[in-house]
Amino acid sequence: MKPGMKVLDIGCGVGGPMRNIVKATGGHVTGITINEYQVGRCKKLNKEAGVADLTETLQGNFMDVSKVFKANTFDGAYAIEAACHASNTAALYKEIFQVLKPGALFSSYEWLRTSKYDKNNKIHVDVVDGIAEGNALPEVRTIEECIAAAKEAGFEVQYTFDRATTGGVPWQAAMKSARRAAYLTHILTGVLEFIRFAPKGTQAVHTMLLKAAVNLEKGGDLGIFSPMYLIVMRKPTA
Ligand SMILES: C[S@@+](CC[C@H](N)C(=O)[O-])C[C@H]1O[C@@H](n2cnc3c(N)ncnc32)[C@H](O)[C@@H]1O
Repeated sequence: MKPGMKVLDIGCGVGGPMRNIVKATGGHVTGITINEYQVGRCKKLNKEAGVADLTETLQGNFMDVSKVFKANTFDGAYAIEAACHASNTAALYKEIFQVLKPGALFSSYEWLRTSKYDKNNKIHVDVVDGIAEGNALPEVRTIEECIAAAKEAGFEVQYTFDRATTGGVPWQAAMKSARRAAYLTHILTGVLEFIRFAPKGTQAVHTMLLKAAVNLEKGGDLGIFSPMYLIVMRKPTA
């Protein structure tokens, strides 16, 4: 990415990656997220970081980006831990394909099942179901399904890399060390809900998040799940 380039951030959240990317490159990033609160927060943080001119944040469904932007608009696109929320990976990739210029790259950091996942192993099935339920994902797809989706959308797959397999401190280690704080937060949410300081359902939401955390850790330990499988694909020039 270079100054003058326009890149799309699919599922931008509150824009942490967006701010780092525009600061490092001088390019322009347009982010889209379905969550209105995130849009306001992202804009505020971008302004505070002095990158308001290099960013734009929109509320919308990434499954409809071809309706939001004209065809062949962007010099590139990326999705970080967001495409896992798509109702259908190929449908999302097809949308992104349309708004990219010919020759542009799309990089996606995906949440995927690895080849170690065994559909006949009940532990594997329960862990992956727990990841999906706890993170409100429609399903957890396999690496092969994701690569097939990229090809179905018309992309040339340039590069794939599982960052979770590069050794060093496993990605799930940080979650393990935060476990005690997570249980304390769980008790606190119950107390705050009981005294009606927090709205009804607060602890139920935390229960869901705890389920996600516990199963993510297990998925990492078993090596059946990666939250950082990078797929880089290119829209053909002709
Ligand atoms: C785990 S967060 C990742 C946020 C950001 N990419 C980051 O790395 O900080 C997933 C994001 O995808 C967004 N998202 C989920 N489904 C979406 C949809 N259908 N359309 C647009 N955004 C969506 C969520 O609102 C959230 O911002």
